[in-house]
Amino acid sequence: MVKVDLSGAIGFLDGAGPDYGAAGVAHRVLAEGTGAGAEFTGWRQLPRRVQGEELKSILAAAERIRATSEVLVVVGIGGSYLGARAGVELIQPTGGPEIIFAGTGFSPDDLNDKIERIGDRDFSVNVVSKSGTTLEPAAAFRIFRGLLEKKYGAAAARKRIYATTDARRGVLKSIADAEGYDTFVVPDDVGGRFSVLSAVGLLPLAAAGCDVRTLVGTAAEDLYALEQRGPENPAWQYAAMRNALYARGKTVELLACYEPSFRFMAEWWKQLYGESEGKDGVGIYPASVEFNADLHSMGQYIQDGPRMLFETVVSFDRPRRDYEIPFLMGDADGLNYLAGRGLGDVSRVAMEAVRAAHIAGGVPNIGVSVPRRDEAGFADLVTFFEVACGISGYMLGVNPFNQPGVEAYKKNMFRMLGKPE
Ligand code: PA5
Repeated sequence: MVKVDLSGAIGFLDGAGPDYGAAGVAHRVLAEGTGAGAEFTGWRQLPRRVQGEELKSILAAAERIRATSEVLVVVGIGGSYLGARAGVELIQPTGGPEIIFAGTGFSPDDLNDKIERIGDRDFSVNVVSKSGTTLEPAAAFRIFRGLLEKKYGAAAARKRIYATTDARRGVLKSIADAEGYDTFVVPDDVGGRFSVLSAVGLLPLAAAGCDVRTLVGTAAEDLYALEQRGPENPAWQYAAMRNALYARGKTVELLACYEPSFRFMAEWWKQLYGESEGKDGVGIYPASVEFNADLHSMGQYIQDGPRMLFETVVSFDRPRRDYEIPFLMGDADGLNYLAGRGLGDVSRVAMEAVRAAHIAGGVPNIGVSVPRRDEAGFADLVTFFEVACGISGYMLGVNPFNQPGVEAYKKNMFRMLGKPE
């Protein structure tokens, strides 16, 4: 379970506290399904729903992929991509096929690089698209399906394609039915950016070698705990504080972490909050930084630039394995004062130093911590940020579960490419 530390932010509220009354109202609206977009809140039950037969068939498909493939190409974009990539990169499982993500754009160079990377290795494809009509993954799927057919023949290629899509509608569903692909469902009541705990995320994660039983079990427990109504609920604390800071002109939230493997968690989080809250002319702008690296690029701006920033810093209580700084005879580099200390300890001290400097520089700091960088930690973070997002969106007064603004570029693109009506 996530812990939230508001001590670095509370001093920026002019003596007031976060508005837990408003958080409570928003939580009730979310839980009782009385708010805008309530028909897309099925993610709150996903771990419970997926346990059982569905999880068994996901695990069986993952086993087949692992037995037959050195590479799994996961084709998808946005909510049909970011959660799986976030999990694979954060958890860094070993022993499974390499996971290559494709379908996030039209760059021919990127596509050719990926095809070259696969080389003559055996591969399978998991195409993920709820609508089945998103052009970026649809075009990539056509290409990778063609490559599979060329390499293995049409019949054997069909056995290497796994489609995750709507239960009834859409082009991908029709193709999957006609071709007899193994098919998994994106539930009707779950939007893309909330779908990582469905087959959308679980199949690639399981194929990569993650322990998805632990992941789903932890997520189910977390969601139960996050139902709790009161200011002790970490989702209330985070939602209420970020809204309080936004009301005081802190319009940009920087999600920071000291683990490079967190990078795509931050990308997943940006979509979750950006698409859920950025509408009707309001919304905190979600940005991210990777510390310590970005302290040497963005650190100056954070310390001294315009004061519209606040930071949310995600940390892990313990490293998986620490590494001790060695003693050096003669101390030529002058680092023997660190000899014998673990890098994890040095990193923690650096984090505290940065926190104090940024707070002193006028940047409120929210701490979010989980025990470890593993399946349970991933589940803790996903469930926490999802629940807090629903509460925060309702506190802000928007529908957190739609994304009407995403259609504008698609309309232009389809018209300019000459798509038939
Ligand atoms: O969160 C969302 O709904 C979007 O990011 C979608 O996941 C994204 O646009 C991809 O859509 P689809 O799964 O229909 O291809």
